[in-house]
Amino acid sequence: MRVLLLGSGGREHALAWKMVQSPELEKLYVAPGNAGTAGIAENVNISVTDFEAIAAFVVEKDIQMVVVGPEDPLVEGIRDFLQCDVRFKDLMIVGPGKDGAILEGSKDFAKQFMKRHGIPTAAYMTVTPENVAAGQEFLATLRPPYVLKADGLAAGKGVLILQDLKEAQRELESMLGGKFGKASSRVVIEEFLHGIEISVFAVTDGKDYKILGSAKDYKRIGEGDTGLNTGGMGAVSPVPFADEAFNRKVEEKIIRPTVEGLKKDGIDYRGFIFFGLMNDNGGPAVIEYNVRMGDPETEVVMPRLKTDLVQLFRAVATGCLADTAFALDERYCTTVMLVAGGYPGSYEKGNVISGFEKVEDSIVFHAGTKLAEGQIVTNGGRVMAVSSFGHKMEEALQRSYCNVAKITFKDMNYRRDIGQDLLSGC
Ligand code: AMP
Ligand code: GLY
Repeated sequence: MRVLLLGSGGREHALAWKMVQSPELEKLYVAPGNAGTAGIAENVNISVTDFEAIAAFVVEKDIQMVVVGPEDPLVEGIRDFLQCDVRFKDLMIVGPGKDGAILEGSKDFAKQFMKRHGIPTAAYMTVTPENVAAGQEFLATLRPPYVLKADGLAAGKGVLILQDLKEAQRELESMLGGKFGKASSRVVIEEFLHGIEISVFAVTDGKDYKILGSAKDYKRIGEGDTGLNTGGMGAVSPVPFADEAFNRKVEEKIIRPTVEGLKKDGIDYRGFIFFGLMNDNGGPAVIEYNVRMGDPETEVVMPRLKTDLVQLFRAVATGCLADTAFALDERYCTTVMLVAGGYPGSYEKGNVISGFEKVEDSIVFHAGTKLAEGQIVTNGGRVMAVSSFGHKMEEALQRSYCNVAKITFKDMNYRRDIGQDLLSGC
């Protein structure tokens, strides 16, 4: 099988790392990739949203499968673009079309979808410039904190959580006035959900699904969940408090109704679904859907997958998931993200990374790295993820941190407390 994977983060290195273990894989290209994917596949200098160039490359290399990593090309319709071309009638595509990707592309759509299909989620109201006054009134009926979300994609920055009603009402106007550009021309106001956040991942072929497990990521830059939000500073999988009873509830109340809801709505969804959940005392509710894998969650979910990923993707793309064997490693996997000093604010690029060749018993997934004159240098805020297994979570964390200590680059930063909040009893 000749496969083209779109993306350039730690997520894509982890997907590539798993795919190259498949005897079915003949050749893997990654566009645009990073220094990690360059070591195990061939990088191609094409942007993930340059659909014409992607199509030309698929023709040139006779690609049989396209796997889409990030959300932007999905929301912009890469699947629809390729599928409407007669030359690609046999091309396998992993990732939903525009009609499915809107689950992530529009918070209002996602909320309507959940309401329609009885999926637990926070109460909400969608506000446009035409009904601001009603929005202000709705805010006044809620208890603080107040949650305001830009409807569209806003690079992970479109959610405001505010303590003060007057401030929330002002921010509502400012968002509708263009604070996040077009993304906030509609705003979803939500009731605040209390509890602990957890993510659950699944793949579906539009009819059946396989659950890839749960994960918790650590979004803030500082230890003890302090400071600015980042793309993710580390992750663990599975999450110890996600016991059998909780997982059953998630499957019965959320995953199955979502897959069935997509089917009922006539959406032929083939790809990943990332369920961002709040666990309120054992009762899960959906905070958000993403139509891709998480990063750094993929760096702990993929290592635990025992199934051949190319076979799994073939089943997703061709609608044969029900007949596909599927297994996960029972062990814990943890990852610690190494980031550039200054991230998530401004940071330097181009610093030489050294020491990762000394890593033992961990997997190093590259995120923001590139090759420059034979050396691997930093090329983004999140630089590398160090993933490890352990029968106990503590053992996995110890391995990750022991190997993190061997890696250096100028102003390297990382959180020292990944997984610490989950350690009792595991
Ligand atoms: P989202 O982009 O929708 O995942 O929101 C970003 C973050 O805001 C989430 O990861 C939560 O930490 C928080 N959040 C979003 N919606 C809610 C809610 N209704 N209640 C509590 N926290 C929320
Ligand atoms: N780590 C969170 C995300 O990928 O959205």
